[in-house]
Amino acid sequence: MAIYLQYLEIPPFSTKKERTFKRLVKKAFQILGRFPKDLTILFTNNKLITLYNTQFLKRPYPTNVIAFPSSDSKYLGDIIISIEKAKEEAEYYQIPYEKYLIMLIFHGFLHLYGYDHEKGVYSPYLMLKNEIKLAKALGYGEKEIINFLQRREYMPAKLAVNVDHVATLREARKTYYPDPVHAAILAELGGADGIVVHLRLDRRHIKERDVRIIKEIIKTKLILEMALDEELIKFAKEIRPYQVTLVPERVEEVTTEGGMELEGRVEEVKMVVKELNKAGIKVSLFVNPEEKTLQLAKKTGAQIVELHTGLYAEAEDEEKRMAEFERLERAAHLAKELGFIVHAGHGLNYENIGPVAAIPEIEEFSIGHSIVSRAIMIGMKKAVKEMKELILRARS
Ligand code: PXP
Repeated sequence: MAIYLQYLEIPPFSTKKERTFKRLVKKAFQILGRFPKDLTILFTNNKLITLYNTQFLKRPYPTNVIAFPSSDSKYLGDIIISIEKAKEEAEYYQIPYEKYLIMLIFHGFLHLYGYDHEKGVYSPYLMLKNEIKLAKALGYGEKEIINFLQRREYMPAKLAVNVDHVATLREARKTYYPDPVHAAILAELGGADGIVVHLRLDRRHIKERDVRIIKEIIKTKLILEMALDEELIKFAKEIRPYQVTLVPERVEEVTTEGGMELEGRVEEVKMVVKELNKAGIKVSLFVNPEEKTLQLAKKTGAQIVELHTGLYAEAEDEEKRMAEFERLERAAHLAKELGFIVHAGHGLNYENIGPVAAIPEIEEFSIGHSIVSRAIMIGMKKAVKEMKELILRARS
């Protein structure tokens, strides 16, 4: 088996480094359980990769790596890497350049076997699974690399389902149904990646009992939304959800009205973040999509920010909606650059989710009211039919 390394200009790597690249690729065949084959890795620049990208993929811009599989049974194909782009991206993602380059080689290598993160819903997962497998087996399994692989922009965003309003319906009659615990399980069956509950200061919908049981039985992650309150912090530390999302709260409000005001509160929030992190809980801050707040959020040490999408969702006309959308786009970009995991939520529904779901930096959406509302409508016909049958059967 031969691995050909080619360069556009002067070889940018030492012979020792070239040997490392070849050794890693040879091992990659073994790890994936494939027969070794010849292949070429061409290291080039942005200009040439743009030509390839335009000519073969109709994308007129530079990219990091392109792979061309071969139909020859002994030749696997060609991996083309832009060194220029790789350097830029390594700096952006704060990954050592050489390690980043090796990740790109693995990425191209998997493409040569037909793995494709741009096809369908599950292909990205399969591609990622193998990238992680290679990284770990070849000694690149550090947390920073695995986190980077898992958080690639092309991965579909996750959906965390908020079941508060199932409890709202229960509390409308102060009875025991519908139970948000059941809703949480059904949401998971529908594909939810996480369950969100907001334990409000007045306990108007979700109660401690709901949080406890949901934490026990769900298979995904529990996200506890709460105000910055001593008693709630104590409860969170006892329950230990995957994540706490800190939100501002006013007892008179119908729903959360805006993001957290961090001006003059950084030290207070920082202490709470530290306390929750110490208990093994990740912390997210619900914030308005604005630069000043994001810069302050960074100082608190929180790992996640949830961008408030309320103004986008409630915009009265298209012009205002577009302005709010662009604010979200800019904020998502900045938040990611500041090193946050970026989430978004509030007011998102079946009509307005599309554009925000395409913002690549947003990794997760927190959606409640629209899903619970839709569930009632989708289930209404069946629910009426069941009751009607009971009535008819009673005298037949
Ligand atoms: N994110 C946060 C921080 C919230 O407070 C809420 C409402 O509880 C949501 C997301 C979900 O909003 P909606 O119910 O409008 O989908």
